[in-house]
Amino acid sequence: MKILVTGAAGFLGTKVMKILKDDFELIGTDRGSAKGNLKMDITKKEEVDFVFQKVKPDVVLHIAAMTDVDRCETDKEMANRINVMGTKNIIDGCARIKAKLVHISTDFVFNGGKGDYAEDDLPDPLSYYANTKLQAEGLLRRSGLKWLVIRPEVLYGYNGDGSERSFVQWVYSSLKQGKEIKVVDDQYNTPTLVDDIAGALGVLIKKGSEGIYHVAGPDKLSRYDMAVKLAEVFGFDRRLVKRIKSSELKQTAKRPVDSSLNTEKLKREGVMMHTFEEGLKIMKKQMGIKS
Ligand SMILES: NC(=O)c1ccc[n+]([C@@H]2O[C@H](COP(=O)([O-])OP(=O)(O)OC[C@H]3O[C@@H](n4cnc5c(N)ncnc54)[C@H](OP(=O)(O)O)[C@@H]3O)[C@@H](O)[C@H]2O)c1
Repeated sequence: MKILVTGAAGFLGTKVMKILKDDFELIGTDRGSAKGNLKMDITKKEEVDFVFQKVKPDVVLHIAAMTDVDRCETDKEMANRINVMGTKNIIDGCARIKAKLVHISTDFVFNGGKGDYAEDDLPDPLSYYANTKLQAEGLLRRSGLKWLVIRPEVLYGYNGDGSERSFVQWVYSSLKQGKEIKVVDDQYNTPTLVDDIAGALGVLIKKGSEGIYHVAGPDKLSRYDMAVKLAEVFGFDRRLVKRIKSSELKQTAKRPVDSSLNTEKLKREGVMMHTFEEGLKIMKKQMGIKS
């Protein structure tokens, strides 16, 4: 099966290209043609059409997005152009060659009022980023294509090339340098190891699954709990992690208080996810750090 991957040089995309390469014929794309990928800016319709016609994939795995939540709030035009119109270009490209579209969405489509969100819970995005991701989901639903939407949550993991733009990466490098960090203890998530998302994508694509799947780790943790756990696993001084409340943090975009995801549907497909502690230990091993 031939799969065209967008955002292949990003955090999740890099891991996907590594983990799924033995099971599928993968063709990576990004807007700068890094890491041997084809150049394809998803906002440029002619570039998308050219690459789709050249590659003629069976499946398109659409990972690329404007992912900086605060920047999406201050540059709505750009966020809309990449996350909504870019996805529309991908949908049109898939329609022309009759490819299935697998799209990466987000837990942020929920308002965080209750947590443990199942796939059929009603979305209610709080930020412009989340709004654009939900609009993209809507475009897929109405596209007439075969489609699969994956909603992951707070990605963490290790690629070894600096592509790991994540909360966990920030905590790791701060604590490693002995820097004190202030972390909120009133925002809850189910953090997800990137290796696990790549694995789950492989299983669901092979099975021909369609519809929406929540793909997240099994533990619901506050950001503060995550930082403390990381300090424990990597042997850093946990006293460097100071707890604060969200109200003390100046974030441009609103975040859900508890956007933890329910993954029962994924489990029924036989996909199991690592706990946060297990995931950190996997990262540590991949980084070549001995316990
Ligand atoms: N990270 C999380 O915690 C999280 C949680 C839930 C859902 N997600 C979703 O998961 C997906 C992957 O996230 P990630 O953490 O891997 O993000 P990432 O590292 O920021 O990767 C996104 C990639 O998209 C590329 N991109 C942006 N605009 C583009 C354009 N116009 N044309 C082509 N490529 C473009 C970026 O390229 P440049 O480097 O050139 O900008 C980057 O390589 C996203 O769809 C995100 O919404 C992420």
